[in-house]
Amino acid sequence: MSIHVKKRRLMAPDITMRKGGEPIVALTSYHAHTAAIADNHCDFLLVGDSLGMVMHGYETTVPVPLELMIMHGQAVVRGSKKALVVVDMPFATYEESPSVAFRNAARVMKETDCGAVKLEGGRRMAETIRYLVDRGIPVMAHIGLTPQSVNVLGGFKTQGRTVDQWAAIEEDARVVAEAGAFAVVLEALTAPLAERITQAIPIPTIGIGASAGCDGQILVMEDMLGLSPDVPKFVKKFGAIGAAIDRAIASYADEVRARRFPAPEHTYALQSSEQRASITPVRATKKPKTPST
Ligand code: KIV
Repeated sequence: MSIHVKKRRLMAPDITMRKGGEPIVALTSYHAHTAAIADNHCDFLLVGDSLGMVMHGYETTVPVPLELMIMHGQAVVRGSKKALVVVDMPFATYEESPSVAFRNAARVMKETDCGAVKLEGGRRMAETIRYLVDRGIPVMAHIGLTPQSVNVLGGFKTQGRTVDQWAAIEEDARVVAEAGAFAVVLEALTAPLAERITQAIPIPTIGIGASAGCDGQILVMEDMLGLSPDVPKFVKKFGAIGAAIDRAIASYADEVRARRFPAPEHTYALQSSEQRASITPVRATKKPKTPST
């Protein structure tokens, strides 16, 4: 390649290199304006398929279409400059076969210009992860609680509560690392299991409800901002944005009803006093009659 482009964004290998070092900071982001703010503080931004529940009112992430992920992915890439942007592959766009996964993941990469995709599953997705990575698509894996499998798991449940469940989850982590994933999300895992996995594998673990023993942390932005009405136990609310929005909208409604908003400073005036003087008054229109019931 003859053109040297100045590197402005973190890339998947930059995240892998952070294994065991300063904790990796990540948040979900679905829009350009939140991406621009989070970009100042985060190493990567995840366009999570949680956007189906958080933004679009679905009960699970299962119905989320690929087109929605692409649209939000484009917004987050446009809004950010420095962070790696990872876009979730939604349910039923990658499980069928490695070639179906490649076709859809390549579409996400080409249409959003993101730097990586994420998909859910351990051993069962290893072949697909290898296939994508070998063809130029960086993959973040996601194990433990995998929300797209909610209908099989029987709910959004903590994983690895008993030691007899650990071997399978540890195996999932080892296998996705061997398959070439550049990092792995550990969701809703008990702390000792997350710590064991983090020590055992060579790629960064990104915890969500999986303890401080992971190499990095991610939360759903709306959850940590205090905007989501119901949040899991592992979420700390770092803000109270929901209450702030409620107060702001209530003030707006009050001021509109009292005709205090818009005030003169929010109103466009004519250019000159001659212009103002030239305006002829209009005849008042009659109030419409309320229809008789
Ligand atoms: O969709 C999402 O937001 C996620 C995070 C919970 C990791 O996958």
